[in-house]
Amino acid sequence: MKIAVIGTGYVGLVAGTMFAKVGNNVVCVDKDQDKINLLNQGKVPIYEPGLNQIVLDAQDDKLIEFTTDINKIKDCKVIFLAVGTPSAETGEFNLEFIKTAAKEVAQVISETSDFKVIVNKSTVPPGTMELIKKILNENSNKNFAVVSNPEFLKEGKAVDDFESPDRIVIGTESEEAKEILSQIYEPFSLKRKKLIFMKPVEAELTKLFANTFLANKVALINEFAKICVGFDADIMNVRNGVCSDRRIGWEFMYPSVGYGGSCFPKDIRGLVHSVNQKNINTRIVSSIDTSNREHKSHLAEEIKNYLADKGGITGKTAAIWGLTFKPRTDDMRESAAIDVINFLLANGAKIKVNDPKGMENAKKIFGEKIQYCESKYDALKDADILVLLTEWSVYRSPDFEEIKNNLKLPVIFDGRNIFDPDRLNNLGFDYIGIGRKYLR
Ligand code: UDX
Repeated sequence: MKIAVIGTGYVGLVAGTMFAKVGNNVVCVDKDQDKINLLNQGKVPIYEPGLNQIVLDAQDDKLIEFTTDINKIKDCKVIFLAVGTPSAETGEFNLEFIKTAAKEVAQVISETSDFKVIVNKSTVPPGTMELIKKILNENSNKNFAVVSNPEFLKEGKAVDDFESPDRIVIGTESEEAKEILSQIYEPFSLKRKKLIFMKPVEAELTKLFANTFLANKVALINEFAKICVGFDADIMNVRNGVCSDRRIGWEFMYPSVGYGGSCFPKDIRGLVHSVNQKNINTRIVSSIDTSNREHKSHLAEEIKNYLADKGGITGKTAAIWGLTFKPRTDDMRESAAIDVINFLLANGAKIKVNDPKGMENAKKIFGEKIQYCESKYDALKDADILVLLTEWSVYRSPDFEEIKNNLKLPVIFDGRNIFDPDRLNNLGFDYIGIGRKYLR
């Protein structure tokens, strides 16, 4: 089938590439000429494990085309919208890109009489599909159906998630569109039937509820982590006791410096804005973002408190391991590392950082304000303390002797609870994690 994808970000590029991988002819359109140039040279502008090779293979097989020319979508039967819906100042979703894309698509499809299916993959406020439909109706020949098909990809695992999704949500009222989407997704629905059909607005809400639920799990365990420290308990022991209950489970129950990324923070803020506009009263939904925002500076405050009787934080150097909002990505959007580093800088600390994939994006945020180190051990030179913020596997089993020999103060702040506190105490370190404090 001939498929178009508008937008070559983390969602659009993965979707387009994976549709090409299974034999469709795909046109990926983006306004960013630099991005398109890179993709045409077989280079993927983001770090997403496994993706680059699949792009190269699809290019070799002439199944994928990258272009800035929207007119190239004219022959495509299905057109996916996967453009950004960033947060506006107020927290509401900024729908400018999606509205513009819908208008441009309308203009191109009005030049043909073929039936088209317009599918929205971007995360949007409930009711946006109606808005897209209105724009298409006003600007085209009306021979189309609309579908809301939210994306549940996790960055760092997006290729696997696309290939083997838990479910594929299709929100449409058109029988013809259901049939076409069923065909497109058949290769990704082999083990069992994964397609779930519903109304467009229900698909939009499914995405928002799923992200809210997951973010809430993280925010809740992070709040409990603080409760644990207040009562001299270790969250990891409590977690074992709690997660063994099969109704609760182990997933998304890792205490952390706070959740980040392009989805949870933005989607929940956008949802809260939509809910408020409708005068729907919520308590839990509206407090998750506040809880997480406050939590993102919690570890930095712990650092400040720890250093208070050791000459204070001003002038101390912190080695930071990990910058991205999670491992296996170069993405720093809303990463807690930004909050922690800004807090430490504002309090007069110096910062040396290392991250396997995030350094280029960090440079765009911090510029010359911090020092970038090629290796994790370089970051320790002349540092007073070590702060781990992202659980990249290269940080999991370090040479603790080397760490100790370098740090002026033997203390490790573990923002992901990956180290064994007893072992670190025995090696002569103080250990402060999230919801666990082991001082010698
Ligand atoms: C998320 C959803 O998982 C995905 O389904 C949706 O399509 C997009 O948003 P993503 O943002 O890529 O995906 O990352 P995810 O793996 O969900 O992690 C989000 C944040 O929560 C990260 O900062 C991560 O470190 C944090 N997290 C996750 C925790 O702090 N603890 C956990 O137990 C799990």
